[in-house]
Amino acid sequence: MNANILKILVNEEEIDRITTRIAAEIDRDYQNTGHKLLLLCILKGSVVFMGDLMKKITLPVEIDFMKVSSYGSGTASSGQVNILLDLHRKDLPDVDIIVVEDIIDSGRTLSYLIEYLRLKGAHSVKTCTMLDKPDRRDENLRDFYPDYVGQVIPDEFVVGYGLDYDEQYRALPYVGVLSPAVYSK
Ligand code: PRP
Repeated sequence: MNANILKILVNEEEIDRITTRIAAEIDRDYQNTGHKLLLLCILKGSVVFMGDLMKKITLPVEIDFMKVSSYGSGTASSGQVNILLDLHRKDLPDVDIIVVEDIIDSGRTLSYLIEYLRLKGAHSVKTCTMLDKPDRRDENLRDFYPDYVGQVIPDEFVVGYGLDYDEQYRALPYVGVLSPAVYSK
């Protein structure tokens, strides 16, 4: 285990079970819709989860990417959502979108994106997250729940499986709790 990881919160076996379960839920929910299914990966943190998930979905899926910024560096949320890389396609009324996230914290990023993609004309927009930290939800978003959830986790600073601290630790194959010594320096 990495020396800066206090404990593993979701190990590789659990991740495999989670991605298998969510892929089966998506297969079940999007059969014979008559629309295209688009997995929309929100860069960068979701890329690892997205890669695992898409391989396990048996329905035809398209993929695309958006990049938004809601955080500065470090652990605190700035409250801002800025679109850095947008989704450009003209057939959105024919597209069912699943927004794929690594983690939901305040809920601001995902709730903003749902509204944004609906206004852009998507046929439907659902949300999927590997991790959910409901204890950190913005007080205006207390009732906001994603459609597909890998694991609900406590309010601890987690890294790995796509999640970073200062761009480090994304490549760890598990989700782990970062030692506070690393970010309180
Ligand atoms: C993280 C995560 C979500 C967002 C969740 O991204 O991937 O997009 O924060 O936080 P919220 O629920 O409080 O809005 P981050 O801005 O750290 O970018 P990254 O994925 O590139 O690391």
